[in-house]
Amino acid sequence: MNITVVGTGYVGLVTGTCLAENGNNVICVDIDENKVNRMKNGEVPIYEPHLDVLFERNIEAGRLNFTTNLIQGLDHAEVIFLALPTPEDEDGSADLKYVLGVAQEIGQHITDYKVIVDKSTVPVGTAEKVEATIAANTSTEFDVVSNPEFLREGFAVDDFLKPERIVVGTSSQRAEEIMHRLYKPFVRSGNPIIFMDEKSAELTKYAANSFLATKITFMNEIANYCQIVGADVDKVRIGMGTDSRIGKRFLFPGIGYGGSCFPKDVKALHKSGQDVNHKFKILDAVVEVNEAQKTILFPQINNHFGGNLKGKTISIWGLAFKPETDDIREAPSLYMIEKLLEAGAKIKAFDPEAMENVKQKLGDKIQFVDNMYEATQNTDALLICTEWSIFRTPNFSKLKAQMNDAVIFDGRNLYDIDEMTEAGFKYTSIGRTAV
Ligand code: UDX
Repeated sequence: MNITVVGTGYVGLVTGTCLAENGNNVICVDIDENKVNRMKNGEVPIYEPHLDVLFERNIEAGRLNFTTNLIQGLDHAEVIFLALPTPEDEDGSADLKYVLGVAQEIGQHITDYKVIVDKSTVPVGTAEKVEATIAANTSTEFDVVSNPEFLREGFAVDDFLKPERIVVGTSSQRAEEIMHRLYKPFVRSGNPIIFMDEKSAELTKYAANSFLATKITFMNEIANYCQIVGADVDKVRIGMGTDSRIGKRFLFPGIGYGGSCFPKDVKALHKSGQDVNHKFKILDAVVEVNEAQKTILFPQINNHFGGNLKGKTISIWGLAFKPETDDIREAPSLYMIEKLLEAGAKIKAFDPEAMENVKQKLGDKIQFVDNMYEATQNTDALLICTEWSIFRTPNFSKLKAQMNDAVIFDGRNLYDIDEMTEAGFKYTSIGRTAV
């Protein structure tokens, strides 16, 4: 099939590349000329495991092309994916200016039937707005479909190629058949393509992400309570998660959820509710608890230093909002850094992928080092913000010998408490009994 993907951010790029990998002829459109030129030369603008291999292979095969010319993209394809940013407005709602702007151009230029697919996470009713915007500018036939993505950063390629489910919202038989043809090869395993109306599809995405954010937040509250009463949240987690109604996944407490999706989507759903006088009380609580969770370890670090962090060196392992990504959007590490700097601490940080992004944001406010052990040289405490695999089994004796003081604050519960005590560390984690 001939496909066009408008917007080459994270979602657009993965969508375009994976659709090309499946034999479709894909054109990706972006207004950023510099980015388009880089991509034409085979440079992947984001870090996402396995994407580079697919990218190169499909460019070479001529199935994956890039342009700044939207009209060329519109002429090329029957199916046009919109993977445009929907940034958070000041009031928490999703800003649709990019989506509707492109919809208008689509209306002005199409001359034959098109399926316009909303891939961006958009509030309920957006497909209707996109449809109205296009219709106001054309008499050519078209359908608008809502097809939310459920890609996890770090696993996006696998999630796209082997999805657990595909949700497609459309009320048009013609569009349904086209979407079915497009996606059938991705669900050979028997996983479902779930067809529904556009609004339900739009809401499915918000509901799924908000539910997952709530699940994590619930565990964070349980963890904080465990800390007070002397229970071990790891044991509680396993005890709960083995009930198949609850499930083992997404029960890991930590220093809060971050990233480009959960924080934005929870707030956007809350705001959409407000707009129609529906109060999502639970989401109010989720936002409030998560905000506090991001810096939950700060008072404990501060107490350890007797309330005076001035001149102390704190090492940070992990800056990305989660492992296997260089994404630092809403990363808890940034909130901790802000607090620590405010209190006068010096920071030495290491992350396998995200340092460049943090450098751009913070400049020389903190020191960046090339490996995890350089970070812990002559430091007063180590703070772990992201659970990258390489942090899971460090050489503890080396660590202890290097540090001024063997003190670890672990925001991701990577180590066994008893082993840490035995190894002579003062070890604080989340919800697993006070040190
Ligand atoms: C998420 C959704 O999973 C995906 O379906 C959606 O389309 C986009 O948003 P992503 O943002 O890549 O994907 O991250 P995810 O792996 O879901 O983690 C989100 C946040 O929750 C991270 O900050 C992570 O550290 C945190 N988390 C996750 C926990 O704190 N505990 C857990 O048990 C799981």
